[in-house]
Amino acid sequence: MAKLSKNGHAAITITLLFFTVAAVVADSLPPPAALVPAIIAFGDSTVDVGNNNYILNSTFKANFPPYGRDFKNHKATGRFCNGKIVTDITADTLGFTSYVPPYLSPEVTGDNLLLGANFASAGSGYFDGTSNLYNAISLSQQLKYYKEYQSKLAKVVGSTKASSILSNALYILSTGSGDFVQNYFINPNLYKSKSPSEFSSLLVGIFSNVINELYKLGARKVGVTSLPPLGCLPATIQKYGHRRGECISRLNDYARDFNTKLEAAVNSSSRLFPELRIVIFDIYKPLYDLATAPTKHGFVEARRDCCGTGTVETRYAICKANELNGTCRNATGYVFWDGVHPSEAANNVLADSFLMQGIKLIV
Ligand SMILES: *[C@@H]1O[C@H](CO)[C@@H](O)[C@H](O)[C@H]1NC(C)=O
Ligand SMILES: *[C@@H]1O[C@H](CO)[C@@H](O)[C@H](O)[C@H]1NC(C)=O
Ligand SMILES: *[C@@H]1O[C@H](CO)[C@@H](O)[C@H](O)[C@H]1NC(C)=O
Repeated sequence: MAKLSKNGHAAITITLLFFTVAAVVADSLPPPAALVPAIIAFGDSTVDVGNNNYILNSTFKANFPPYGRDFKNHKATGRFCNGKIVTDITADTLGFTSYVPPYLSPEVTGDNLLLGANFASAGSGYFDGTSNLYNAISLSQQLKYYKEYQSKLAKVVGSTKASSILSNALYILSTGSGDFVQNYFINPNLYKSKSPSEFSSLLVGIFSNVINELYKLGARKVGVTSLPPLGCLPATIQKYGHRRGECISRLNDYARDFNTKLEAAVNSSSRLFPELRIVIFDIYKPLYDLATAPTKHGFVEARRDCCGTGTVETRYAICKANELNGTCRNATGYVFWDGVHPSEAANNVLADSFLMQGIKLIV
């Protein structure tokens, strides 16, 4: 008995001590830290948070209404969505209380460098030739910016702290749809000289080089998105579909072929770099499920996009500036916001599945 109560007392003392220390620490420190120190994003319009606003002649911009209609302060930031993109939702889930500004923004300085960086640019692809068609920031330029970011960060926090942030950061790479939709499908120089499978191999080769490069530069936690079902996007169905309203299986086959090659490349990178944690954030399956059986998932519309882009030109598959009339009243039931980009509601579904797939990056 005596022994028990003595232990019990010790336990209570330790518990009290713990709470006292915790309280003192909580008083003197900022709010609880996020699960990773920083998020660093590369890619295309799926993750662009407004870099293209700073490129005068970039083809694709989303810094006008109706973009951002359901975002904080209804602001059109340059995100290709009515509300949050997947990386915003992921940042929320990981405990961040603010979003990283686009890297080209003048706000990217001082303490704003600490929570990560976003280099993504709408119109960009794995293949620099794709980016060049649309005056987007190519992936190789995004890597150059990343190196510049590393030295800026080291100047702010010192090189030891900087390398700790950079090796614990979550890296997200989301690109590749544009290489097909905005380039291969419409570019005779490519589709006459390469089969879709050869083109996929070329892109995945670039992906592997990018991973090598990022690893050398200190990245250790990487999530790469797979290609979406390219044949289920409102823009491709409108342009290439024969029977209105059905996904185009040929285009989906190209995406699945790319995704298989991507998976093989991810597997090789894992073998090559044992310290690298790398996962595929699969977009294909969840978006295919939404696009083919929307009502099963609480959606009402998967063929028409909410903002009513309405022209046959894929390159104009984004919302028309200030055209509010054709825009649906409530995007919550729509899988697609514009001709190629999911709505915030669909992004919530994608982000949920990313989280399941990305657990090993954050524990
Ligand atoms: C777009 O601007 C960049 C510099 O900002 C320039 O290098 C490029 O040639 C321009 N492209 C076109 C098509 O005007
Ligand atoms: C990648 O590795 C996983 C797990 O080892 C395996 O199940 C999968 O078949 C591999 N994929 C490819 C395309 O090699
Ligand atoms: C929008 O639609 C969803 C279901 O699709 C519904 O739950 C929600 O209440 C609607 N919001 C408004 C403001 O009508």
